[in-house]
Order: sequence, then C-alpha cells, then structure tokens
Amino acid sequence: MPVDESQQNWILAIESTCDETAAAAILDDRSVAASVIATQEALHQRFEGVVPEIAARAHLERILPVIDQVLREACLRRERLQAIAVANEPGLPGSLVVGLAAAKALCLAWNKPLVTIDHIQAHLYACQMATSENLYPNVGLVVSGGHTHLYHCHSPVHWELLGGTIDDAAGEAFDKVAVMLGLPFPGGSHLAQLAQSGDPKAFDFPRPMLQDPQSLDFSFSGLKTSVRYQLVGPGKQDFDQLDVPARKRADVAASFQQAVVDCIVEKSLRALRRTGLKTLCVGGGVAANRSLRDQLSKACQRRRISLHLAPRPWCTDNAAMGAIAWEKLERGQFSALDVDITPGLRRG
Ligand code: KG4
Ligand code: ZN
Repeated sequence: MPVDESQQNWILAIESTCDETAAAAILDDRSVAASVIATQEALHQRFEGVVPEIAARAHLERILPVIDQVLREACLRRERLQAIAVANEPGLPGSLVVGLAAAKALCLAWNKPLVTIDHIQAHLYACQMATSENLYPNVGLVVSGGHTHLYHCHSPVHWELLGGTIDDAAGEAFDKVAVMLGLPFPGGSHLAQLAQSGDPKAFDFPRPMLQDPQSLDFSFSGLKTSVRYQLVGPGKQDFDQLDVPARKRADVAASFQQAVVDCIVEKSLRALRRTGLKTLCVGGGVAANRSLRDQLSKACQRRRISLHLAPRPWCTDNAAMGAIAWEKLERGQFSALDVDITPGLRRG
C-alpha cells in the first residue's frame, strides 16, 4: 500500500439517507480523495419505487465494505482524520439509522468527533465544491427524488425555506411517468433520454401552481395524472397492456419534461426576484437533467444571474457532497454521540 506523505487533514463522510450506500474521504481543501457509491437500483426495480425495508437491509450489508473501499483507495493517515461525518436528515428512518450507527461506532473505535449533516444542504454544497468563489448568500434549489424545494441560503449551514412541493417531488414525478412509459426504475434519466427524440410542444400539459404569482410552492401530482389520461384515458390502470406508438411515447416524455422544467425555471426566477439575490445554486438528482440545465442557463444568462449547477456526478446521491461537514467542523459544530436521526424536512 502506498504511504501517504502529504500529512493532509481529511474527513470520512457517510451517506445512507435513501437507497445509495456511499462513503467518501474529503481533504480540507474540499477535494475528494476517494468516493464510493453502492447503488441499490436493481433491488428496487421490480417494485418501481424504493422499498424502505429493503433499502435498510441493503445499507446494513453494504456500509462496511463501502467504507473499507474508501479507506483503501484514499490511503490517508488515520492521525489526520479530523471527524466522521454522516447525513442524519432528512431521509428514510431505517436507512438513516444504518449510516448514523456506523458513524458513531467509528467515532468510538477511533476516538474521533462526529459531525452530522443535512442531506439537502449537502446537495446544494456540491455547487460550492466546484468553485473557489464564495457562493453565499444564494437561492438554493434542490430537485431530487424526495424534494423540490427553494431556500434562501445565508451560509452553507444556515437557510430559510422559501417554498416546496405540496405533493410529489420532481424526481418522483419523473419516476412515475417513466413507469407509465414502460421505462426502468428510477426512470428520470431514461425519460430524459426518450424525450430527446420527442416534441416538447406536442402536448400542452398543465404547469401547476404557476398562476398564483405569490406562490413559491410546486405541485406535480396533477401533471402526472394529466400524462396518465393522455396515455390510457381516465379510470383505466394497466400500463403494461398499452400499445403506445414510439412517436407518441417520445412526445409525451418531451412534453412532460418541458412542463416540469417550465415550473422549476419560473419558480426559481421568482425566488430570485423575491429575495433580491443574484446567485442560484441547483443540486439533487433532477439537476442532472440536461434540458433543465440548459434552460436554467439561458434564463439566468438573460437576467445576469450567476448560476451554479452541481457537477453531474454529484447530482444524484453521493458522499462527496458530505464535504459540507468541513463547514460545520470549522464552526465547531460537532454532534454528541447520542444524537438521533431527523427523518423529516427542516424548514430553517
Ligand atoms: O438526489 P437523488 O439521487 O435522491 C434523492 O435525494 O431523492 O435523486 C434521485 C432522483 C430520481 O427520481 C431520478 O429519477 C432523478 O433524480 N434523476 C433524473 C435524472 N437523473 C436522475 N431526473 C430527470 N433527469 C435526469 N437526467
Ligand atoms: Zn438526495
């Protein structure tokens, strides 16, 4: 094994909030020495959604091998390890406890402090990791499988909720419409690929909650129902029996994607106007969507808004974005070893 001569300080970050088991070793300059992600996609595919009990059991099996691989790949000095970081909110309870228990055990075994992090703040911090420019304050937009929320971010660890989805998250809507189109779970990236050959103007799907000029909230469940009616008609259930022509499938995918993108772009601009902020940071799995990235870029360019999109590999769940733990560590914000999980979303 090569000997690390660098004497660099580092942290070990653990992520297990939903269905990815991940760990990363991150240096104090926020560069990532090693990052490992064990995905559970294959386990949940036949259920067309994440099954919490299966996710928790899979985390349990994978967490130690994943951490072990990171330690081997990073090959850093244990004396230089400054803390163990873990996302303990928000997420699936059974998944969160596995990561937190592993982190606590390592803290005890190696006599290191614990730093707990918010998974949503970590998604946004992926933008800060990609630049040396200070991005705060900013409007933070998280678009993932579980969240579609806008924040006024005063600092990496201090924020206020401006608005969010009142039903499905954007990623959840992508995944459910993808199932209707016969695509594998999780369907976001598959749907985006299908949309490339479709016409985004073919179907005029609703843009929910855009009419109320005050609202910074989102709603995607009516849009999803509208797609369903377009494909099968009201009252019918069975998508397996559908014989939708390839052209129509692509047009539905493109038109649905465009409706989601329109809602997200418009609400983000509204949040920027409301707060007077000039910087927009975007993270979460759906931030990997090329159409959303392109259209946000165009809209922000026109208005001289500084847009920072999380690098694509750090959009979907990973532990590298646990680099946010350095911000807490530098502020002396450690957690006691009796800290618990917080499955629900914090508002501020
Ligand atoms: O952030 P993430 O990995 O997990 C949560 O914290 O929820 O986001 C996963 C979500 C899934 O719903 C997935 O379908 C969606 O992100 N996603 C995409 C794309 N890549 C992943 N949605 C649209 N377009 C994509 N290219
Ligand atoms: Zn996430």
